[in-house]
Amino acid sequence: MARNKIALIGAGMIGGTLAHIAAQKELGDVVLFDIAEGTPEGKALDISQSAPVDGYDSRLRGTQDYADIAGADVCIVTAGVPRKPGMSRDDLVGINLKVMKAVGEGIAKHAPNAFVICITNPLDAMVWALQKFSGLPTNKVVGMAGILDSSRFRHFLAEEFSVSVESVTAFVLGGHGDTMVPLTRYSTIAGVPLPDMIEMGWSSQEKIDAIVDRTRKGGGEIVGLLKTGSAFYAPAASAIQMAESYLKDKKVVVPCAAYLDGQYGVNGRYVGVPIVIGEGGAERVLEVKFTEEEQAMFQNSVNAVEELVEACKKIEPSLA
Ligand code: APR
Repeated sequence: MARNKIALIGAGMIGGTLAHIAAQKELGDVVLFDIAEGTPEGKALDISQSAPVDGYDSRLRGTQDYADIAGADVCIVTAGVPRKPGMSRDDLVGINLKVMKAVGEGIAKHAPNAFVICITNPLDAMVWALQKFSGLPTNKVVGMAGILDSSRFRHFLAEEFSVSVESVTAFVLGGHGDTMVPLTRYSTIAGVPLPDMIEMGWSSQEKIDAIVDRTRKGGGEIVGLLKTGSAFYAPAASAIQMAESYLKDKKVVVPCAAYLDGQYGVNGRYVGVPIVIGEGGAERVLEVKFTEEEQAMFQNSVNAVEELVEACKKIEPSLA
């Protein structure tokens, strides 16, 4: 049986990490595409030379030619520019929108049957534009944000409760930005909701509020520390979970930027919600009930996404 093919559009910090994890997991053969000459080739060669030591057989190659992504089963898009200190994700709109146009056209021409995972920021607007530019079905184009935001939340909670990260589940909805909505009610320690854990005296509301705030600003904290770019290990791990669920039809339920067609009262926009990922791509949206306060936070987040989409339409009238 032929191996799966994974095309990584953008071979920077996240792209290189994606290639390494995908190869180590033997998810398929990997093509790294980038406009920067030498970067994808160099990373492909370097990772290939780690394969004999680690013992995996994925084939990797780098390219500047979209024709080489032909027939890809999965495309993960990180092409674009990351944040520098002082920049918000939204500051990237103008530059990265142009990149999404080129990438969307390349995927449409050479890998129209792929499951496409967008990581480029500002995520909720870029994945919307990428779907439009590519013309691929909305269930085959999704954005990676919620798994990363939830994972950050889980890490902080595991530290607070001094328990294994594996015992922590977290639920983060909304756009990938400062308006994201970490839902404490649906976040648990081994199934016990956080409000109950507070009642049992394991933590306090103030501490959980501080963790929620730190989660919201989790990406910025890393940008501030790295100074030259943004996070890449956790974003790559998160996107690989999505790719794996599609390729193996695992049907994991994870928060992703998914196209909403009336769910949560949103029409024609990408927003972070829990979805089932399987062989059909984004197969189903899990629509949870909100309290009034949660609804207000979610709406605030949707409004922020809407503003970015409007900004995109002004820059690129063909998207209107
Ligand atoms: N086509 C293909 N690749 C491109 C294009 C393009 N039109 N424009 C830029 N690139 C490449 C760059 O050459 C670079 O190698 O995209 C890569 C981006 O890599 P990094 O700068 O290392 O950025 P990274 O940390 O990987 O983040 C990528 O993901 O999380 C988001 O905000 C982040 O938007 C950023 C993206």
